[in-house]
Amino acid sequence: MKAIVFDQCGEPAEVLQLRDLPEPTPARHQVRVRMLASPINPSDLLFIRGQYGRKPALPASPGFEGVGIVEESGGGLLGWRVLGRRVAVLGALSGTWREQVLVPATQAVPVPADLPDEQAAAFFVNPATALVMTRHVLRVPRSAWLLQTAAGSALGRMVIRLGKREGFRTINVVRRREQGDELLCEGADVVVCTADESIGERVRELTGGAGVPFALDAVGGATGSEVVTTLAPGGRMLVYGTLSGEPLSLDPRVLIVGQKRVEGFWLGEWIARQGLLTKLGLVRRIGRLMSAGVLTSPIAATYPMDKIQEAVRAADQPGKPGKVIVRISPPSLPS
Ligand SMILES: NC(=O)c1ccc[n+]([C@@H]2O[C@H](COP(=O)([O-])OP(=O)(O)OC[C@H]3O[C@@H](n4cnc5c(N)ncnc54)[C@H](OP(=O)(O)O)[C@@H]3O)[C@@H](O)[C@H]2O)c1
Repeated sequence: MKAIVFDQCGEPAEVLQLRDLPEPTPARHQVRVRMLASPINPSDLLFIRGQYGRKPALPASPGFEGVGIVEESGGGLLGWRVLGRRVAVLGALSGTWREQVLVPATQAVPVPADLPDEQAAAFFVNPATALVMTRHVLRVPRSAWLLQTAAGSALGRMVIRLGKREGFRTINVVRRREQGDELLCEGADVVVCTADESIGERVRELTGGAGVPFALDAVGGATGSEVVTTLAPGGRMLVYGTLSGEPLSLDPRVLIVGQKRVEGFWLGEWIARQGLLTKLGLVRRIGRLMSAGVLTSPIAATYPMDKIQEAVRAADQPGKPGKVIVRISPPSLPS
């Protein structure tokens, strides 16, 4: 089977190679999945560069999620139930940018038939993060303000659509003015562009000086640091990304006065603390919200495995129009 592999960490376009590897055999309670497609997420690029929260065991394959067909079960009731089905792969044992992967049967989740492979490929990482941060961790109430940075990201757009559906109001920070109209069409209440506006001033205007009770930051640096200063007394900011690569810097008094909180969020750690019922409920809810178009991602382009260098360059491009997908094997046939 073909696999995308890297022997050392570094720039993705330089270190990734397409290689032939032996086909894996599933152990009991595992299934073997023929991968159809996988997205290139910012976390994949950080992982290849050795900058992610978990270091790769080299040689390694990237890919934290994807969609495929279960071709073989190593035994057990769950494996038998998903045999032959199209599933989202959550946490493959090897990385998903391979033609064949092994995964515990509990982490091969059947996906709704109406989702194209490109959407089903991005079934979990961003949808679960958007849903968990807003509904389970912050529990943003109806009509409350939620401010978010990197609002034009695939995940940011999911938060906007969730706000529209659940009734909370979003202030959306972007770095390019062109994104404004697109996000207003998605349902954004307000868009703030850091190229020519001050986040602090806009928040003061919108909230009558009170500040925002909830914020999400994936950027850090000057943008994330300014967001901390816009929190209302008792306000909470979840930090979930490092897109600028720059640290947050803040005056501790900003947190002390009004007892505000800045907290980290990492989906993998949150999921690991949940029971089976919560996980099943989350997966069902994601399926429904994806079919309803709330947790879908804009797709920029699809590349075959042998064009992986072009694919990772496109995924790392500022201003890209959506997710870049790696097509690993031919599209699934309608059942
Ligand atoms: N903690 C977790 O568990 C978790 C889970 C999932 C995702 N994430 C994080 O969520 C974030 C979004 O992921 P995604 O897949 O939705 O991303 P994406 O679709 O690739 O979009 C990335 C967005 O970030 C913006 N951006 C990049 N660098 C920036 C900078 N220096 N300043 C301001 N904006 C910048 C880009 O703006 P332009 O359009 O202007 O280029 C783009 O809109 C990432 O940081 C990812 O690692 C975290």
